[in-house]
Amino acid sequence: MDRTKILFVCLGNICRSPSAEAVMNSLIKAKGIEELFEIDSAGITGYHAGEPADQRMQRHALNRDIHLTSISRQVKSPADFEHFDYIIGMDNQNIDDLYQLAPNEQLAKKISKMTDYCTRHQHDSVPDPYYGGAAGFELVLDLLEDACEGLLEHIQSHE
Ligand code: 4NP
Repeated sequence: MDRTKILFVCLGNICRSPSAEAVMNSLIKAKGIEELFEIDSAGITGYHAGEPADQRMQRHALNRDIHLTSISRQVKSPADFEHFDYIIGMDNQNIDDLYQLAPNEQLAKKISKMTDYCTRHQHDSVPDPYYGGAAGFELVLDLLEDACEGLLEHIQSHE
């Protein structure tokens, strides 16, 4: 069976999307189903390409036993749109940018927003924590843990 391939996307690929990648990896590993998935993350911009995740984000994640290991890279079009099954942005600007990058309407159907999979939180986006304080990083992780569980349920009920 083909793996389900998921690409998480935020602006810089150093805070939200590498965390989404790590939370999803942790969830599927805990369930023993990591062989069924390919998980990656990327940024709309390449400003931080080649860098590890933001130190503050790493520290907050580590407090929940989530290890951020990915190195920042920019979204590639058309390659990422062809390769991945789900392309998931963190906020409305990410979604607008992804639609701009999508090679065609068919491949644009792979785009969705992370908070659409939340079942416990009412937020409309995963807010950028970069210029804020500790609470912003904790909120990112709360939303991502909720959304990753919802995303997994969505995939398992649709595939
Ligand atoms: P991210 O956060 O999109 O969650 O990785 C940001 C990281 C860096 C910048 C903005 C947002 N920046 O402007 O450098």
